[in-house]
Amino acid sequence: METVYKRTHMCGELRKSDEGASVALNGWVQKKRNLGALIFVDLRDKTGITQIVFGDDAPAELLEKANALRGEYVIGVKGTVRERESKNPALPTGDIEVLASEMIIYSEADTPPIYIKDDDNVSEDLRLKYRYLDLRKPSMQRNLAFRHRLCKLTRDFFDEEGFTEVETPMLAKPTPEGARDYLVPSRVNHGKFYALPQSPQIFKQLLMLGGTDRYMQIAKCFRDEDLRADRQPEFTQIDLEMSFVDQDTIIDIQERYLQRVFKQLLGVEIERPFKRLKWIDAMNSYGSDKPDLRVGFELRDLADAVKDSGFGVFTDALAAGGRVMGIDMDGCSEKFSRKDIDKMTESIKTFGAKGMVWIRFEEGEIKSSVSKFFDQDALRRIGDVFGAKTGDLVLIVCGPEKIVWNSLGFLRRDLAGKLGLLRDDDYKLLWVVDFPMFEWSDEEGRFMAMHHPFTSPKSEDIPKLDTGDLASIMADAYDIVLNGVELGGGSIRIHDRKLQKKIFDVLQLTEEQIKIKFGFFLDAFNYGAPPHGGLAYGLDRMAMLLLGEDSIRQVMAFPKNQNAACIMSDAPTVVDRQQLDELAIDIVKEER
Ligand code: AMO
Repeated sequence: METVYKRTHMCGELRKSDEGASVALNGWVQKKRNLGALIFVDLRDKTGITQIVFGDDAPAELLEKANALRGEYVIGVKGTVRERESKNPALPTGDIEVLASEMIIYSEADTPPIYIKDDDNVSEDLRLKYRYLDLRKPSMQRNLAFRHRLCKLTRDFFDEEGFTEVETPMLAKPTPEGARDYLVPSRVNHGKFYALPQSPQIFKQLLMLGGTDRYMQIAKCFRDEDLRADRQPEFTQIDLEMSFVDQDTIIDIQERYLQRVFKQLLGVEIERPFKRLKWIDAMNSYGSDKPDLRVGFELRDLADAVKDSGFGVFTDALAAGGRVMGIDMDGCSEKFSRKDIDKMTESIKTFGAKGMVWIRFEEGEIKSSVSKFFDQDALRRIGDVFGAKTGDLVLIVCGPEKIVWNSLGFLRRDLAGKLGLLRDDDYKLLWVVDFPMFEWSDEEGRFMAMHHPFTSPKSEDIPKLDTGDLASIMADAYDIVLNGVELGGGSIRIHDRKLQKKIFDVLQLTEEQIKIKFGFFLDAFNYGAPPHGGLAYGLDRMAMLLLGEDSIRQVMAFPKNQNAACIMSDAPTVVDRQQLDELAIDIVKEER
């Protein structure tokens, strides 16, 4: 007796041309309707749904079994394809149905805690708890299949370009990507820990020193950092490194790769070369190093227009070395109420802004929150910086540069979203280049590497390492940005040991720290190092953006929730005393 039917078709495959065929299908019961003489079952697998009919000429035993079916039972059906009397144009298989002659019930199912349909409005925690049910939804199956195709295309493309896929260790030493490490205790070396890699950075550079020439890997990375919609503690990079290349060569290959991704997966033509923006121009025009170019609302510097205004808030900010900048929300004077503006002001306080000034360019009159200090002419002069016209709303923030950039950068994108101007199918790709090499950290009281410490300074800026003008040193680093999200980033690396040592000195790492952290890595550069560089894409982010999803959890089979926990399996979890003893670990502080 057959225990599993050998399937002839998937549930989304049958068409009118299959009429008369004997078929065998396997799947889950999506829905059952009992019309007395006839029982209809929608049978679902990852490819779609086929309507099965149990007719009145069926043996009583089969009808009885069909009658017992409930949602999510797993069954196999044999039967004949026939044309439907009432067709369903919403289904690709909607012209046909299968008249069942035999059925096996493989397994019964309790009533599922979530509905298996895409528009189910259930909490994300419940979805993650029953992820195996959630994955049955068409959208989740579509996303997993898309991600698979993206990986396959990626492997094929880089294979054609001479890249070798190499696996690098998961049990490793801490890597310098700046997040907290996930540590793994060693049983055979008590008191010592591996770190799960934040990226394969060190290994991929060592592969270049090892003569691999062009490396790629679809690599798992681990970072213990605060979670957001586009961040997970465990995520995947498309990681790449190349020898004997400059920035332009790397960028050229990536543009051809991305062009193929868009063409093959979305049918969208992307023009090359992509736009390139220097970091400083991105910050000054968009207030962000990952600008969303789907909308304008560019930032403008208003120092000249307000410096003689006598308005202390602005002039004090300028005197303290800060900036006064604004954005012109085209035609938005009427679109945002006083209450909306209060909310905006509140929202930018999270970036440290003290407040926000608004100017409404209304018919016959310019109104403003600072009209006491600025007469109509003075307000007009501010408007002229943007070319503002009647109906516009200008928003101004002043203070330290970073706060002004962050606040206005946030506002332009947030408001564009609220105005419905950010279309998912509008793809604006750009490179942000010429990042500063170092960034001052108030917290640490020293300069930190903006990318990572293996990034090469621009050759013309190397002498500045000796003169101490660190803030103005630019790096050979680049990010690829899509619609306001950093899709990937990389750099040309240092391949000269002396220069690397100098960078570590500038970062105030002691000889001892350098030796412990990177000694083995630096030693490798004593034996012949090719010039090299590379980059890494966030695979999850890329899939999320291409699919128009708003969270990377939608493109991962088993993501963690906001507390970095898997609520399905209950990880992380307590472990046996015996296991801790073997590792010589004692818990001194229980969960806070
Ligand atoms: P970087 O740290 O910029 O560079 O990471 C590269 C890309 O990885 C993605 N990414 C993440 N995706 C999901 N969740 C996270 N927590 C997360 N963190 C990063 C982003 C990001 O652009 N070794 C360097 C690359 C190089 O220099 O070649 C690196 O890891 O899309």
